[in-house]
Amino acid sequence: MHPSVGGWSPRRPHRAMRYALVSDVHANLPALDGVLAEIGRLGGVTATYHLGDLVGYAPWPNEVVERLRGAGVSGVSGNYDSTVATDYKHCGCRYEDPRQEALSHLSYAWTRAHVSSGTKALLGQLPFRLDVRPLGGHTAGPTLTLVHGTPLNNTTYWTEDRPDAFCLKMAAAAGARSGDLIAFGHTHLPWHRIVDGVHFVNTGSVGRPKDGDWRAGFAIVEVDGAGAIAVQHVRVEYDVEQAIDAIRRSELPNEFAEYLRYGGRVPATA
Ligand SMILES: [Fe+2]
Repeated sequence: MHPSVGGWSPRRPHRAMRYALVSDVHANLPALDGVLAEIGRLGGVTATYHLGDLVGYAPWPNEVVERLRGAGVSGVSGNYDSTVATDYKHCGCRYEDPRQEALSHLSYAWTRAHVSSGTKALLGQLPFRLDVRPLGGHTAGPTLTLVHGTPLNNTTYWTEDRPDAFCLKMAAAAGARSGDLIAFGHTHLPWHRIVDGVHFVNTGSVGRPKDGDWRAGFAIVEVDGAGAIAVQHVRVEYDVEQAIDAIRRSELPNEFAEYLRYGGRVPATA
């Protein structure tokens, strides 16, 4: 029989830990505010982390970085963050056609011209990955590894149709084992798979979804006292018209406004 000291019993199960994971905000402040409000409404969230790509494509790069800093949300460096911070020649994005490539260059140039020195410094300080131990580092339990693209770089697109072997290679690169979780963003498409006991979670995108759903997306990861993991994807309506208006009033391409309205799947007639 274990003694109980001050109400604490070593047999009492650890309380569940809930994490909100938000990725690819891409300078969309109304979307971020909608998500942070929803996280507040959900309640019981232990911590919120971002998975990078805070800037690009929308006109609030400084405000987004400041909002996350003010809310105490730490996170990792996306390709947009690390390329802006280091004055790289392009944003590290993939282009599907020449028009998209031209738009991407415009977004990158606009963002580099509008980030403050303080924002640029904060982007440059972001770590490449974060490891979270919900049950504490002093005891066995799952590790949640947070990256932007993959554990190897922040530019590779880790899509849901990747073979199991790719996922296991990434797990090995991260040092993840059965019962652990790797979370990432970058593709702006939410999914969750379990391969050989390792959870792989793409959180989707807060500020620039590409799955045809305009609502802001993020993920909740819950870890119970026994280390079991549950994953939920959440979508939140936000003031998308405010974002659309602000893009149109800026020198950013109007295509980015339409992109938000249609969740990245703009009909040919639009
Ligand atoms: Fe992104």
